[in-house]
Amino acid sequence: MSEKNEIKLDPWGRPDIKDYSRLYDLFGIRPFNEVIDRMKKDNIELSPFIKRGIIFGHRDFDSKILKAIENKEKVAAMTGFMPSGRFHFGHMMTGLELIYFQKLGFKIFVGLADAEAYAVRHLPRKDLIRIGIEEYVANLIALGLDPKETEFYFQTNRKGSYHSLIQLFSSKITFNELEAIYGDITPGKIVSALTQAADILHPQLPEYGEYKHVVVPVGADQDPHLRLTRDLADRFKGDLDLEPPASIYHRLIRGLDGGKMSSSKPDVTIFLTDPIDQAKKKFMSSLTGGRNTAEEQRRLGGEPEKCPVYDLYLYHLVPDDVELTDIYKRCKSGSMLCGECKLFGSARLEKFLTEHQKKLEKAKDIAWSIVEIPKI
Ligand code: TRP
Ligand code: SF4
Repeated sequence: MSEKNEIKLDPWGRPDIKDYSRLYDLFGIRPFNEVIDRMKKDNIELSPFIKRGIIFGHRDFDSKILKAIENKEKVAAMTGFMPSGRFHFGHMMTGLELIYFQKLGFKIFVGLADAEAYAVRHLPRKDLIRIGIEEYVANLIALGLDPKETEFYFQTNRKGSYHSLIQLFSSKITFNELEAIYGDITPGKIVSALTQAADILHPQLPEYGEYKHVVVPVGADQDPHLRLTRDLADRFKGDLDLEPPASIYHRLIRGLDGGKMSSSKPDVTIFLTDPIDQAKKKFMSSLTGGRNTAEEQRRLGGEPEKCPVYDLYLYHLVPDDVELTDIYKRCKSGSMLCGECKLFGSARLEKFLTEHQKKLEKAKDIAWSIVEIPKI
């Protein structure tokens, strides 16, 4: 077995990455820590997920993005979502990254990956379109992404030279290379991968605004697509004049069973559109980092590092650092037991979802009105 097979990043699988630091050596992702000083020097505000180490890695974020900011050149952030399942706390992480970049003045592109979802999840077109609008676009707007400053589009419906890119890309890649990157490959997956490369690179074309410096915020499972895209950009040097994109990688939030959070596991995944009672019920039955008995937990303390409840605090429900540190200490010391902790968390969850869902109805109307709907 080659070393790279030790951790397989399958963008269409359900990767369960235990040790993120292995990705530095195996794939050449750089630790995000190394760019933080330069961000501070540039007076760029650090987001909570940067300060909390949720963003653990990057490619060329300093040499492309920070440099462009320092040179006062325009910058963009681009990412995509497969509209095949409901929007959950894992997707919200990416949403907050986009909002963060938008506030820093980046142009935002959001691809609704309906072509990809059709190829790999096999849902009817009608469902993909409705989910794309009502789950993804609407939730992103309700979270605070400014629709006026964001370009949302469906992959099957992007106008202009975007589709030409996919055709051209197919001529500079071999079947063996695709197999080496993705393992099992099908025509649908090949087209999806090349479409994703077009998603990432098309903002550079003059007709889409000529954004030469693009950062792609994604979960680590998407890195194979970024390696392909960066390679393709290089192969067209002197012809299409495309820059390899930069990227940043976040740790994937865990589901309530400690595995991956995923739309296909609704019992252990909290969706932003879950009825409040249902969300609280799931939350209360979450696995924790607690001990077998109360006595043991008072003596040994809990293990927040292993706790999906703590993950929710860290990623979303406890934005205040002082408060989070306090929870961490009380958990570790055994002075707070999981029952008490969950009651606190459940109230937080209720407050967040209530406020979010209030914004959602209006956001849905906006979402239907701003995104062009595919004709087939
Ligand atoms: N493949 C991504 C996913 O499974 C979705 C996606 C499509 C994407 N195009 C993209 C992500 C461009 C980042 C950039 O979620
Ligand atoms: Fe998790 Fe809270 Fe229990 Fe600690 S006290 S293990 S953070 S549920």
